[in-house]
Formats: sequence, C-alpha cells, structure tokens
Amino acid sequence: MTTADQESPFADLGEVLVIIPTYNEAENVERIISRVRAAVPEVHVLVADDNSPDGTGDIADKLAGADSQVHVLHRKGKEGLGAAYLAGFRWGIERGYQVLVEMDADGSHRPEELPRLLTALRSADLVLGSRWVPGGAVVNWPRSRLLLSRGGSLYSRLMLDVPIRDVTGGYRAFRRETLEGLGMEHVASAGYCFQVDLAWRTVKAGYKVAEVPITFVERELGASKMSRSIVLEALWRVTAWGVGARLDKLRGRK
Ligand code: GDD
Ligand code: MN
Repeated sequence: MTTADQESPFADLGEVLVIIPTYNEAENVERIISRVRAAVPEVHVLVADDNSPDGTGDIADKLAGADSQVHVLHRKGKEGLGAAYLAGFRWGIERGYQVLVEMDADGSHRPEELPRLLTALRSADLVLGSRWVPGGAVVNWPRSRLLLSRGGSLYSRLMLDVPIRDVTGGYRAFRRETLEGLGMEHVASAGYCFQVDLAWRTVKAGYKVAEVPITFVERELGASKMSRSIVLEALWRVTAWGVGARLDKLRGRK
C-alpha cells in the first residue's frame, strides 16, 4: 500500500465535505471539528452558521484560519436547519465535492462512526445513520424526546410510505448526484422536517438508500433548538405531503 492509500481509504468516493449547521454552538464547535478531522483526516468541514449571537461564527473563522480543510459559511440570521443545509449543499456542489455529509455540531452524531457511513455509500446513493435499526441506539435522551422521535418517524413512514426506519435522523451522507437529482430547489422545509423531506424525495426519485446503525448521544453542552414551531411545521408538512400523494394516486397520476 502506498502512503496515499493509507491516508485516504475513501479516495474512490471523491472529495468529502462534512456540513455542520450551527446556531449558538460556541462550546461545541471546536471539539466537533477536531473530532471529525481526527476520525477521517482527508475530509473537509463546512460550518454553516446563522450569525449565532454567542460568537460561534467567530470561533469557526479562527479555526478555519488555522486549517485549510475547514471552511465557514456565514448566513445572515436564523433561518432553520433546512435552509442552512441547502446553502451548505450548494456551496459544496459549486466547489466540486462529490460527497456531502450532514452532522450536528453537538456531538450527538459521532464523527468516529463516519467511516461506517462512507463505506456504505460505496453501494448506495444516500446513507442514513439510523437509531432505529438493529445495532442502533440512543444515549441519554429523555423519554419525551424518545417518544417524539419514534412517533415522528412512525407517522412519517405511514403518511409517506417510505421504507426507512429513521426518517427524521440528521446524520447522513449523500452523493452529489443524489442531491442534484432530487429537486433541492423545490425544498421549502425550514426546520427538522427537512430531513423527512429529503429522504422522501430521494426514495421517490428512485435512488438507493441504505441505513447503518449509529449510537446517537445526547448533547452535554449547549441547548437543543427543537421547538414547538419546529414540531408543528413537521406535522403539517408531512400531513400535506401524505394527503397530496394519496390524491395524486386517486387521480391516476403516479
Ligand atoms: N445554521 C443553523 N440554523 N443551525 C441550526 C439551526 C438553525 O436555524 N437550528 C439548529 N441548528 C443546528 C444546531 O446548532 C445543531 O448543530 C444541529 O442543527 C441540530 O440541532 P439540535 O438542536 O441539536 O437538534 P436536536 O438534537 O434537537 O435534533 C436532532 O434530532 C432530530 C430528530 O431526529 C437533529 O439531529 C435533527 O437533525 C433531527 O431531525
Ligand atoms: Mn442535538
């Protein structure tokens, strides 16, 4: 094996960009970047910050100044996780990255499991890190949050008929062709239903989706941005998508 092979076991997949959306993650941003860079040294990282009042963007700038594989996308204000990811995907696609990874800033998605996602992407178009397949787990989540996640996943699966166990999860690896083919320009989801939206579009477009087990670890620092309005947006959008799909079927469209 040459040195290059040893340094880049995923060279066959092309350049990988890990996108980390942030809103008030000052206590987490440095740690998550260093964990990603240690776990898979060849990847690049893009922090997509919504002008966090706690100065996360400034910390990210400092880190980017010291590491040419770290980049920062400054957005003007809080517009939701979905909007931040869409901007991050566009940024990465414009710059020629072949694989775009979604990862939370708070350590819930363990960078040490990224090699497992990338390995599975060799035979899939989208890989989902899944809490709800055998081998998957959640650590330290309160019961209320477990119920919300399992309920949201079940409701989405029933309404949309998607054969995915963890359809709301946020630890994912896309091939760029998948993102280019699923109609990103039509995505309106702002909050966490963005994840359901993209998974559903990927399935409808006929791409191959693989789920690999992950252990989701609840954050230790900072606060979740989950809110009532995020839950309500997910509920009405998933319901509207499901009803729309059923009406289309009745009308004989596909
Ligand atoms: N730029 C930006 N803008 N980032 C945001 C925003 C926003 O409006 N809202 C949240 N984020 C970032 C957070 O800073 C964090 O890095 C990541 O998105 C996830 O936010 P959390 O608030 O930690 O999410 P969670 O732990 O409650 O929810 C997780 O589980 C959900 C359900 O499975 C996430 O993984 C979600 O993606 C997932 O849908
Ligand atoms: Mn979190």
